Amino acid sequence: MAVNLSINGCVATALEGESLFDLAERVSVRVPTSCRKLGKCKECIVEVLDGMQSLSAPTLFERHLSGNFRLSCQSQVLRNDGDVRCHTMRRGQMRIERHSLGLPLSNAAIPRDPAVTREGDRILLDGVEIDRSTGPIHGLAMDLGTTTIVLRLIDLESGELVADASFENPQRFGGSDVMSRIQYDCDHPGKLLRRTLAGYLSHAIADFPVDPLSIYEMVVAGNSTMRDLFFRQSVYSIGQNPYRSITEIEMAEGRRESTSLTASARRSLLPIHPKARVYGLPIVSGHVGADAAACMLAVDLAQEERLIAIMDIGTNTELILGNRHRILAASCPAGPAFEGGAISSGMPALDGAIEDVEIGAEGGIRTRVIGDVPVEGICGSGLVALLGELLRTGQMNSMGRFTDDVASIELDASRGVFFNESDVNELAQAKGANVAGLHVVFSNYGLEFGDVDTFYLAGGFGRHLNVEAAQRIGLVPNLPASRIVQVGNASIEGASIALLSMAKRRELESLVKRVEHCRLETHPDFFDFFVEGCQFKPAESALRVAR
Ligand code: FES
Repeated sequence: MAVNLSINGCVATALEGESLFDLAERVSVRVPTSCRKLGKCKECIVEVLDGMQSLSAPTLFERHLSGNFRLSCQSQVLRNDGDVRCHTMRRGQMRIERHSLGLPLSNAAIPRDPAVTREGDRILLDGVEIDRSTGPIHGLAMDLGTTTIVLRLIDLESGELVADASFENPQRFGGSDVMSRIQYDCDHPGKLLRRTLAGYLSHAIADFPVDPLSIYEMVVAGNSTMRDLFFRQSVYSIGQNPYRSITEIEMAEGRRESTSLTASARRSLLPIHPKARVYGLPIVSGHVGADAAACMLAVDLAQEERLIAIMDIGTNTELILGNRHRILAASCPAGPAFEGGAISSGMPALDGAIEDVEIGAEGGIRTRVIGDVPVEGICGSGLVALLGELLRTGQMNSMGRFTDDVASIELDASRGVFFNESDVNELAQAKGANVAGLHVVFSNYGLEFGDVDTFYLAGGFGRHLNVEAAQRIGLVPNLPASRIVQVGNASIEGASIALLSMAKRRELESLVKRVEHCRLETHPDFFDFFVEGCQFKPAESALRVAR
């Protein structure tokens, strides 16, 4: 008898007493570490999907973890039979999109006035010398999402993208949505979330093909909670009604001019130049965070005359509607379903994820997988495509029930990847929150869906979304295809623009102050919108002007 262990899809027979970390090394799976298996760095987290009972009990070093998360250096295979299936926090290679995708600001049109400049061999930050070097000067843009993190390394003199990286947010052990992270941070004030993240970021920076000390500024976009955790702010107030970041409270009390944040590189625990600055983009209001602000910069909303909408679908979906004259915004707590969380075979849009699904005339399911690797699960765009196909072929009704008297659909049985009827419920609720948000924002503005000139679908999810399927299930309004623009990760685009242009940064700081925040929970029709939005049918306009 032997324990068969699968880690990141690599299979091996485990030796009794062997740690998951040692076994991962044996099958050449890289596990992040800064302490060489001593239990101190907290970076070697794995999520155990099956076979927890075959592992040793958690040690004192794992007190901060619950559920299926373990430190691989502390988990030993105990029993001599059974199967263990686990994975490290996943990494992926973002498709490099050097040019904007349908965004109004082309790379060449971005004013090139970064905060970091050069005079001979003098490197200046805001005109003050911070280093002497004749080498290249770099900046780092980060989109710090609840589920995934994207980094872009940019040459600040040429504006060119040098490298990028994306990986799963290792803070997932603290919960899959922002409310659980806030709760976790309040329960474990030992900086664990921050330290684990800093470890992962440091490894990613060290992997870039440049000297990390040539990075002189970093711009951070992210939702209010992720941004404030990164900047060591208390996030308690974001989790309590009326859900305000500490920076928003301080600004309302006249104690700060802006909700943006700055910190020194040293304080951020990152291996970039010690005199580098880390700048957090301003948040808009409540859960409408710095990622939404970055999207506004990416679509050049400060200069926009036409009516545009931006929908960045994620754990917290951000909605923005308007033009340079009037802007409304809302945040919808959609939960992690569309990012693969809370779905039995769900995963972020990284290598190994099913990103598209088609059901043939003969009923066979064809899938498209990200990367040249075996299937590991299904991501949000795959889930939307699957729902759209199930609806189109009559295998699921508008209430989300499977019609063939089955409870589960095989996507790749050999890899244990299934889609269960219970998953549909999670997706229905996530969709309901998104659609309710759309209705609230449009009705508060006094607009119908058809009034917008351009509907931007932002986010990695929105970029690869099958729009036809999304419209069939009612996740995206029924607008002509010519008016829907899938712009990709507009948040990282906005962070990159802020890195390259101080003028654009200042423009954004003043723009966010003019945004009217729609609080969904206070709208009288919110519940009706939500219930209607949970059904899988095209989303029609419901013009109900705010009372
Ligand atoms: S390797 Fe550092 S805690 Fe496991």
